[in-house]
Amino acid sequence: MSDRLVIFDTTLRDGEQSPGASMSRDEKVRIARQLEKMRVDVIEAGFAAASNGDFEAVRAVAEAVKDSTVCSLARANENDIRRAGEAIRPACSGRIHTFIATSPIHMEKKLRMTPDQVVEQAVKAIGWARAYTDNVEFSAEDAGRSELDFLCRIFEQVIKAGAKTINVPDTVGYNLPEQFAALIRSLIERVPNADQVVWSVHCHNDLGLAVANSLAAVMAGARQVECTVNGLGERAGNASMEEVVMAVRTRADLFPVHTGIDTTQIVPASKLVSQITGYPVQPNKAVVGANAFAHESGIHQDGVLKHRETYEIMRAEDVGWTTNRLTLGKLSGRNAFRSRLQDIGIVTESEEQLNAAFARFKELADKKQEIFDEDLQALMSADVVDPAFEHYKLLSLRVCSETGEVPRAAITLGAAGEELKAEAEGSGPVDAAFKALEKIVSSGTELLLYSVNAITGGTDAQGEVTVRLAKGERIVNGQGADTDIIVASAKAYINALNRLGSEVIRLDPQGETV
Ligand code: KIV
Ligand code: ZN
Repeated sequence: MSDRLVIFDTTLRDGEQSPGASMSRDEKVRIARQLEKMRVDVIEAGFAAASNGDFEAVRAVAEAVKDSTVCSLARANENDIRRAGEAIRPACSGRIHTFIATSPIHMEKKLRMTPDQVVEQAVKAIGWARAYTDNVEFSAEDAGRSELDFLCRIFEQVIKAGAKTINVPDTVGYNLPEQFAALIRSLIERVPNADQVVWSVHCHNDLGLAVANSLAAVMAGARQVECTVNGLGERAGNASMEEVVMAVRTRADLFPVHTGIDTTQIVPASKLVSQITGYPVQPNKAVVGANAFAHESGIHQDGVLKHRETYEIMRAEDVGWTTNRLTLGKLSGRNAFRSRLQDIGIVTESEEQLNAAFARFKELADKKQEIFDEDLQALMSADVVDPAFEHYKLLSLRVCSETGEVPRAAITLGAAGEELKAEAEGSGPVDAAFKALEKIVSSGTELLLYSVNAITGGTDAQGEVTVRLAKGERIVNGQGADTDIIVASAKAYINALNRLGSEVIRLDPQGETV
């Protein structure tokens, strides 16, 4: 009998700490519903104390999700824990995840606390958290660079105080698989009452080893892995959930564990997260990259046709590649549209929002014969903006591009009931459109990233554009989708500008204090 490996997804918290990946409440709820459908055990919905918006987002996820445990991160202080406890209150099953740094460098330089003070604070934190729930997780931030004796000491104390999950993060992605496995093994051997808790790992990918370290830890006794969809997360990201899950499943002959994940939901989750955050998936990414199951070389194609397992260790359909199915067409009605949106986890909040979305769907169906789930996701994620935050709106765009001529764009934006117009030339039609936009808005932003992807196959596919803008310390991603990629680009730029205008200051959980 193999043990259950708990899959703890932190896409909505650590994933959200990636530059520009911050998500609105509704976007978080949509991703959380997909994670629930995938049967993720624990969804870390955010850091409730970061801002009122973050608090509301964690609470909305706690209200929406029924089958997964919903968790909020909290630093080891009373206020953070109170916010986390209040935010998860509506959850059928809620967890508070509290943490404090334990490495010499973090304790001395960041926290300015002695090891004794850190232990005392951690124990108090567990007590505060237990006033809200018995399901309390404790993390020793930067455990990967902490002293083993100190980790044993603090873990012994927090277990005594009532922590049920003990998480060992390799916060800076410094560890190597054998070393990390040895750390987990030693902790489980040495910490009193280790068998009363679930041992968890949280690995960052700075050396590209997050998945390898997590799997090595599982071999050493860890029974929870913290991971994110597409490996999103701080800096180089976290362990990729799809890789961890598929490694455990594909090598069930070696791993003493199994997960409860419905793997057919992996690709839809990957696409949804990519669309919402604006982080494209690299084509050669394991499991969810567009090439992950594509065989280019003639020898491989021949082999796969003769016998699939000559070159494939997993089946594309097992991870959801075939769920790309035709959903709606030009003649589909409003009810069919609404119920398909619900099936893919999108609930429109008002009849007006549904009507507006339906009008856009009809527009798209006029241009594109086959509408897939991915088209609907893009239609909703790129364009459905809370009207309160939609300061600029694209009213029209005309672009002239001809060989031998300088491309020109003329754009009209709506803003606060006014029509604003500008024209500009550029090195290409996208450049001209962005220059025309900037003539109107003078945003003072720097363009950090511009990327285009086809959402589905075929030349009538919608192009999905991501634009990342920076202004001072703030970075936002904007998305736009359209069958015309110049229009998609303008929409993405405007979406980023609107997000910049609506971003609020949020606390960084791994910032300076406790
Ligand atoms: O990387 C890390 O250490 C974290 C903790 C807050 C768990 O994200
Ligand atoms: Zn982390």
